[in-house]
Amino acid sequence: MPPPADSLRTALAGLLDGLPPRQAAQAVERLIGHYRGATPTDAPILRDRADVAAYAAYRMPATFEAVRSALGALAEAVPEWVPAGHVDVGGGTGAATWAVTAVWDGTRPTTVLDWAEPALALGRELAAANPALAGARWQRARIDGALTLEPTDLVTVSYVLNELTAADRAALVEAAASAAQAVVIVEPGTPDGYARVLEARDRLVAAGFRVAAPCPHSEACPIVPGTDWCHFSARVSRSSLHRQVKGGSLPYEDEKFAYVAATRFPVTPVPSRVVRKPQIRKGQVLLDLCRAEGSLVRATVTRRHGELYRAARDAEWGDGWDDGR
Ligand SMILES: C[S@@+](CC[C@H](N)C(=O)[O-])C[C@H]1O[C@@H](n2cnc3c(N)ncnc32)[C@H](O)[C@@H]1O
Repeated sequence: MPPPADSLRTALAGLLDGLPPRQAAQAVERLIGHYRGATPTDAPILRDRADVAAYAAYRMPATFEAVRSALGALAEAVPEWVPAGHVDVGGGTGAATWAVTAVWDGTRPTTVLDWAEPALALGRELAAANPALAGARWQRARIDGALTLEPTDLVTVSYVLNELTAADRAALVEAAASAAQAVVIVEPGTPDGYARVLEARDRLVAAGFRVAAPCPHSEACPIVPGTDWCHFSARVSRSSLHRQVKGGSLPYEDEKFAYVAATRFPVTPVPSRVVRKPQIRKGQVLLDLCRAEGSLVRATVTRRHGELYRAARDAEWGDGWDDGR
């Protein structure tokens, strides 16, 4: 079997077969317009198959990579743990379910909840290309104050908080905390996305969760509000639809995202995390780190540090970092 990322790319390319390229591009442009408009909305934005196919072909590779990266950081903090069940809330076409299968082998009971039936239908159709999702359930559900979730190991909430009212965001995070052993929340890597993640993080910690990633600690975020925002970047191969809508010829683009992964059980977060793209200078690497004691520092690693210097040259934005302090 090809890896899930490849099967997903093939399945998404198949969606656009037979759809005139101009029509697909128009559907994407309409959706982007919607997403720029006021959210939350009273009714699903993804109304029909054309909308959903456009959303999936255009956005799913990026949300998949962002969630895969967040789940990878969770897996690093809890190497022995494999989720025995997964509920993806506001799961749409199921990007996070694909990401779970890319991070952990095997199958598990999986449920995708969303209020947009066309998204669920397309998600089900795409999932036929991933044997690990053969048993997944695609269920219609509305996220609001009345939401309750069945107990499960892992709840993911990917690119959804942005579409909810403040009250519904709070209700969703509370419901996830009540149901799950681990909760992973992913948002766009914007100042607002970070703010929503931070609010969810506070709620999870108050509910007794520990932060597994990206923070090396469960203390308050050391970023002074309004001065910066914690976010990361995932590389996404661009499809021909991407190139058509956005122009340009680069074979990839970088999806910026903010996230939190938190667990009810003990975790060993990384000692520090690289929170910006490392700056490589002659004979030295500058690393911006968030540290276990809850502080932000810039570490300068020079050639004199030997092994550590070689490791610093390979370090990437978002990686864990251990300088052996
Ligand atoms: C931007 S999409 C993200 C989809 C998917 N999680 C991903 O990462 O690709 C947001 C999803 O949230 C769903 N959604 C928004 N508000 C909702 C609500 N109140 N109840 C249920 N689903 C909702 C939408 O239908 C849509 O599928």
